[in-house]
Amino acid sequence: MSIIQNTETTAKLRCISCGDQPDSAGRDFRCTACGDLLEFFFPEGALSALADPPTLKALWLERRTSRDVLDQSGVWRFRELLPHISTEHAITLREGNTPLYEMPRCAHSAGVGRLLAKHQGMNPTASFKDTGMTFAASSAHQDGFRWVACASTGNTSASMAAYAARGNMHSLVLIPDGKISWGKLSQSLDYGALTCQLRTDFDGCVRILNELVRQKPVYLLNSVNPSRIEGQKTAAVELMEQLAWEPPDHIIVPGGNMGNSSAIGKALLEMYDLKLIPRLPKLSIIQASGANPFYRSVREFGGKKIEAMIADTLATAIRIGNPASWKKALRVMQATGGEVAEVSEVEIAIAKAEIGADGIGCEPASAVTLAGLKKLRRRGFVKSGESVVLILTGHLLKDPDFTIKFHRGDLFAGTKEENHSSPAKYLQRAPIVLDADLKAVIAELAAAEKNS
Ligand code: F0G
Repeated sequence: MSIIQNTETTAKLRCISCGDQPDSAGRDFRCTACGDLLEFFFPEGALSALADPPTLKALWLERRTSRDVLDQSGVWRFRELLPHISTEHAITLREGNTPLYEMPRCAHSAGVGRLLAKHQGMNPTASFKDTGMTFAASSAHQDGFRWVACASTGNTSASMAAYAARGNMHSLVLIPDGKISWGKLSQSLDYGALTCQLRTDFDGCVRILNELVRQKPVYLLNSVNPSRIEGQKTAAVELMEQLAWEPPDHIIVPGGNMGNSSAIGKALLEMYDLKLIPRLPKLSIIQASGANPFYRSVREFGGKKIEAMIADTLATAIRIGNPASWKKALRVMQATGGEVAEVSEVEIAIAKAEIGADGIGCEPASAVTLAGLKKLRRRGFVKSGESVVLILTGHLLKDPDFTIKFHRGDLFAGTKEENHSSPAKYLQRAPIVLDADLKAVIAELAAAEKNS
């Protein structure tokens, strides 16, 4: 059964490995010739024929003042760069439009002059997934599907459940039992998804889902679906607009299933081709050392192959051992001259608390960006005078358990990190339980003032 018709639009599908160009994609979004992933591309000249860069930039800016719901979305506002979907099928929660923050204290701790964070956790369901989901869920709606489904570490499922509900579709969520945060699980329940906690890990959930979509008319909303990547591209376009189209030297993203890095890199290359930006920022990808198959692929095999692994990290969002989009991510990382790094559990926890201390906050997986920046800075890959943008992928409140355990000093109790976690101590702010006594509160205030 075909689910993407690209006959009436200029965007076409192509296999990333064998180059086959199918008219439509099958339900698993894999190439029927070689089994690799598909991507959208615009034939030579198709985008530049639309309008010149100044006209496009002015149009996108003008839409920010429009009352039209699609113009108010930070994804659909850039629809010239997306494949065609009829507007009556568009499901939007006014996603995108996320803030770009100065991070002065983090800049100091990382040893760079200027550090910015684009906070994709400020999306409607509090993660970056909404930008891809609005577009891919709309595609499912256009193709007439009743059911959509995903395997997830929690954010994709929260986002999918919300967009399916808004589009009057049913959603099926497959998540690893006990390995996602309660915040994310509660979202998919409240948005009405059929939520199955499978006794396996994320990679096991993906395997079951791939079998399921072959047998049942269910639309797959994982990031192997190239429509997800198209929607997620717009985060980078919006970022460049916020920077007045002056690219930073570096953009740093977490790497899990690697859809996000693929999408941001694709956007950068397309914007550069279209002369929307004068040069390419370097896109670097950071993984947790306990879930680092991409890092190892690049380091040990020169990116020629990837070895799946059993992943383990407290940053549960990126607890992924067999990333689907690694080839796409590798291609854009190399094309932009970016790097890859791995960071430890303690480094992630420290970076997360530092991002919090800048008054911003994020979930653990997002904090790998700051931890990775410090590594890249030490390696000399990022220079002190260079400008850097971190992509924060999820909101602080997605995983309050992690944060509370960290501040109470319990996060690493009984783990192999326990003996290496003392550098995190100075950031810990455990809650203090007191009698309802003014003097006791004043004494705490005085002690805090003395230590500040
Ligand atoms: N950060 C957060 C907060 C995430 O939820 C994810 C992925 C990533 C980073 C990594 O992005 O997979 O595109 O490389 N979460 C997925 C999920 C896998 O199911 O929610 P990626």
